[in-house]
This record gives sequence, structure tokens and C-alpha cells, in this order.
Amino acid sequence: MTADTLSHRHLFVPATDPGRPPLLLLHGTGGDESDLVPLGRAVAPGAALLSPRGAVLEQGRPRFFRRLAEGVFDEADVERRAHDLADFIGEAQARYGLTAPVALGFSNGANIAAALLWLRPEVLAGAVLLRPMVPLAKPPSGGLEGRPVLILSGSADPIVPAENAARLAGRLTEAGAALTHRTLPASHGLTQRDLDLATEWLAAR
Ligand code: MLT
Repeated sequence: MTADTLSHRHLFVPATDPGRPPLLLLHGTGGDESDLVPLGRAVAPGAALLSPRGAVLEQGRPRFFRRLAEGVFDEADVERRAHDLADFIGEAQARYGLTAPVALGFSNGANIAAALLWLRPEVLAGAVLLRPMVPLAKPPSGGLEGRPVLILSGSADPIVPAENAARLAGRLTEAGAALTHRTLPASHGLTQRDLDLATEWLAAR
């Protein structure tokens, strides 16, 4: 495991199964680059794992972009940080010899992954978005033709209204993504069913 810096502090775990696409792990609010490594190992055994730490601090807790309140995002910052993260992915691909990764993001990490799909679709081969919401009011204009995306929502999620998750799914579909959206009997936290569905979906890529 490497904890080199590039433009983002991050961990890198080399592949033991080079047939699998690399995973870009994006943690939730208050997490860090080590948080999702066990999840990445569980859902995509043998894949290279690239796990950056969110560059924004909210009362000392790392995130991937600023928010004004719960669920109210600083959209200029979302855009800026998504471009910074896309540039980091390019740096990491060159450093570690990686193909375009599939994002695996939880909560705030899923939201920045959705913003990456919106703004820099070329940097991701696909995405698993765990409990995401719409990151930007203005929908993407396309650019996701055939890109595989899995959204897993929770029917009892107190942070993400069902309407918001459905709107995100609709916008990604309109932009051309090959989208699967499942709503599980769950809250904002992940369940074994999330892991099973993510594992199956990733194995089919
Ligand atoms: C966000 O701020 O990205 C979402 O509200 C999810 C969270 O981090 O709580």
C-alpha cells in the first residue's frame, strides 16, 4: 500500500488480478483514504484500489466539497473539486499505470462521483453510487453514452429524499448512462445487500 501524495493525499493498493478495472474509492463525510479499502477489497477482490482523501474540511472532518447545510451544496466548490479530483485521477493513472477506474463512492463520496460523471465523464469507466443525491442543479448535457452506473438508495434514508435519488437516476439516464437503480430497505448506512449487489454488478463489468 502506498501513501504518496500527488495532488491528493491517497492510498494505492496494486492489483493482484489485472483483469479487473481499478476502483476509485470515495469516502463519506468524516472518513479518510483508509475507510473504504476493506469495502473495495470485498466487492472487487484483486482490483487495484485508488483511494484519495477529500480535500475539504468541515469542522475537521474530510469531505470532497463544501456544503452550506445538510443537503445544500456550494455548487461552485462542487465543480472546482470535481475538476481537481479528475486531474488527480489522471496523475494517478500515469503514476501507477492504470486504466480509467470505476468509482465506488459512499454518501459525500458518491455525490462527488456523480459530479465527476456530470463534468468529466472521460475519467471514469463507470460508477457505483451508494446513497447519492443530485450534486449540481444543472443537468449534464450528455457524454455518458453506455457508461455503466449502479445507484443503491435506502428507502428509509433520512439524508437522501427518494425524489432526489430518482432525479439523479433520471438525469444520468438522460445523459446516456447504462443505469441500474435499486432502492433497498435500508437507512443511509450500508447493508450486506449493498455489498452483494455491488459485488455482482462489478463482477459483470
Ligand atoms: C453531502 O453532504 O454530500 C451529503 O449530504 C451526504 C453527507 O455527506 O452527509
